[in-house]
Amino acid sequence: MRKLLPAFLVAGAVLTPVLGLAQEPAAPAAQIEGDAPGAAPDSGSGAEASTNATHGGEEAATHTPHYPLKKPAELSWTFAGPFGHWDLAQLQRGLKVYKEVCSNCHSMNLVSFRNFEALGYSDEQVRALAAEYQITDPAPNAQGEMFQRPGIPSDRLPSPYPNPEAAAAALGGAHPPDLSLIAKARSVERGFPRFLLDILPWSQYAEGGPDYIHSLLTGYEEAPAGVTIQPGTYYNPHFISGPALAMAPPLSDGQVTYDDGAPQTAEQYSRDVSSFLMWAAEPHLVERKATGFVVMIFLIGFSIMLYLVKRRVWADTPH
Ligand code: HEC
Repeated sequence: MRKLLPAFLVAGAVLTPVLGLAQEPAAPAAQIEGDAPGAAPDSGSGAEASTNATHGGEEAATHTPHYPLKKPAELSWTFAGPFGHWDLAQLQRGLKVYKEVCSNCHSMNLVSFRNFEALGYSDEQVRALAAEYQITDPAPNAQGEMFQRPGIPSDRLPSPYPNPEAAAAALGGAHPPDLSLIAKARSVERGFPRFLLDILPWSQYAEGGPDYIHSLLTGYEEAPAGVTIQPGTYYNPHFISGPALAMAPPLSDGQVTYDDGAPQTAEQYSRDVSSFLMWAAEPHLVERKATGFVVMIFLIGFSIMLYLVKRRVWADTPH
C-alpha cells in the first residue's frame, strides 16, 4: 500500500493533462437528485414543484431541461489553500449583507450573536446587534404565555417566521433553509480524476460550498425558450435540485451600503456573504489549517529523527 499510494498520485497527476481534465460535465440528474442531504432536504413542496418543470417541444424527449447543472465559477477565496486566512473586513461586510437581506427569510440557528466577537466586534457592539432582534423567549412567562424580548448575545440568529410551514406559505411553497451549515452542505461535482488530485496539498479544493452559493446568488437567468417553470419560482441553472427555485434573486447593485469603500455591487455582496457563510459553517478553519501545517512539519522532523536513531541502534550489528 505504501508503494501504491505515490504511484497512484503520480498516475493521477500525469493523467490530468492527458485527459484534458476538462471539468467533467456535470452529473446526470439522477445522481444529483440522489444527493439528498444536499438537495434542499427541507425545502418543502416548492422545491418538489420546481423540479416538475417540463420542457416543451421535441427536445423533451432527448434531455431533461436544466441538467447538466452549470458549473459554479471557481473564485479565489482568502481562506483557500494550506495558508488560508479570513479577511475580517469581508466577513463583516458579509454579516451586513446577511443581516440586511438574507435574514428577512433565512435563520442561522447554530450561530449565536456572541460568535461575532470572532469577526472583530466588541462586546458592546454584539449586545447592540443582538438587541436589534426580537426573540421569542424559550421559556413562557408566569401566565404560561410565550413572550418576545430583545435579543441577548447568547441568542441564536432567529428565523423571521414562527415555523417552516408559515415560511413556505409566504414564500411560494418552499421554506428557506437555515444557513448555518449551508456552505458545507453544498459542493461541486469534480469528476475523475480531479477529485483525487484535490487531496494533494497544493491543489486541494474545499471551496465548493462558497463557489456554489456565489454562483447561485448571481446566476439567475431567463428560462430558455421551451422551458416552463412553476409560477412563483425563478430559473437558475446552478440550483442543485431543479431548474428553478422559490427564492427570487435576492441581491441587486447598491442594495447594501458599505462603509469601507468596497464596491456596492451584487457580485461583491454575493462574494462577501458566501465567505461569511463559510465562516459560519467552519469558524475554526484557519486554526485547523495552521495546526495541520505544524503537525506536518513535526511529523517530517520526527521521521528524520527516527531514521537517524535506527541507523545508530543498528550500526554495530553485522548484516
Ligand atoms: C424573500 C426571501 C428570501 C431571501 C431574502 C433570501 N432567500 Fe435564500 N431562499 C429562500 C427560499 C424560499 C429558498 C428555498 C428555495 C427552494 O428550495 O425552492 C431559499 C434557498 C436558499 C439557498 C439554498 C439553495 C439550495 O441549494 O438548496 C441558499 C444557499 C440561499 N437561499 C441563500 C440566500 C442568501 C445568501 C441570501 C441573502 C443574500 C438569501 N438566500 C436571501 C428565500 C429567500
